[in-house]
Amino acid sequence: MDFVQVERGDNGVAVLTIDRQDKLNALNPQVVEEIGQALLELDVNPPRAIIVTGAGSRAFIAGADIAVMSQMSPMEAKRFAELGHAATALLDRSPVPTIAAINGFALGGGCEIALACDIRIAAENALLGFPEVSLGILPGMGGTQRLPRLVGPGIAKELIFSGRRIKADEARMVNLVNRVVPEGEALNAAKELASQIAVNGPLAVRMAKASANRALDVDLISGLEYEADQFGLLFSTEDAKEGMGAFVEKRKAQFKGS
Ligand code: COA
Repeated sequence: MDFVQVERGDNGVAVLTIDRQDKLNALNPQVVEEIGQALLELDVNPPRAIIVTGAGSRAFIAGADIAVMSQMSPMEAKRFAELGHAATALLDRSPVPTIAAINGFALGGGCEIALACDIRIAAENALLGFPEVSLGILPGMGGTQRLPRLVGPGIAKELIFSGRRIKADEARMVNLVNRVVPEGEALNAAKELASQIAVNGPLAVRMAKASANRALDVDLISGLEYEADQFGLLFSTEDAKEGMGAFVEKRKAQFKGS
């Protein structure tokens, strides 16, 4: 791949880096395709957690590639949006937790990639926003759908209609990011959190993610039924026996993911 690197750590944490620094990691169709391909490859033998970040100190992703989009036909634009939807769905629906380490500009499609992650950690110098309407287009990689679900319709509409860029502290205030860390520390903070996730029962974490995702799709009663099913199912795993047994025996659990 030309623009995406994946590094798997010994602790089961994979870091997916988008690296197109001369264009502030802007997403052209090839970059989006490569993100999708990398996530599909990770899906074959999932790590314990996936971190998504941008190469360099200036940008997470400065958005979709405007120069390329300016030449697109309506059908090419639709295909580009669909490619984006496929890549973001792979993040959203990845069996394992996904964390965006936002190390600088996260604009337009960049913010939309971050929105598709389960957790967002931003550096103090990060700038986030949805400038699409200033270009005469709209957020087409899931932003109009995921942002209202995350921050509520009022804030989402303000950000999307105004195209206003916000700093990390405001993004934290409106729940667009989980946490703000000093400049240069987003990736380290994401790694630390991913390591905490990675020591837990992997099947439990996966099912907890599936259950929490379900909360956004169905009514409460159906969601609770799903949660009870997943809870019961976990009791058939070695991990649950090991986790609860280790507590009773006052030792540290060793999970195998089985
Ligand atoms: N699409 C295509 N190219 C982009 C880009 C994007 N979204 N964002 C940045 N770049 C390119 C610039 O064109 C420039 O390329 P060049 O050196 O070949 O001219 C390079 O990345 C560096 O960006 P530059 O604008 O010179 O840096 P800056 O520090 O002055 O400004 C930004 C940084 C992020 C404020 C500015 O690049 C910007 O506004 N980008 C577009 C953001 C946007 O609207 N994204 C949503 C798209 S839907």
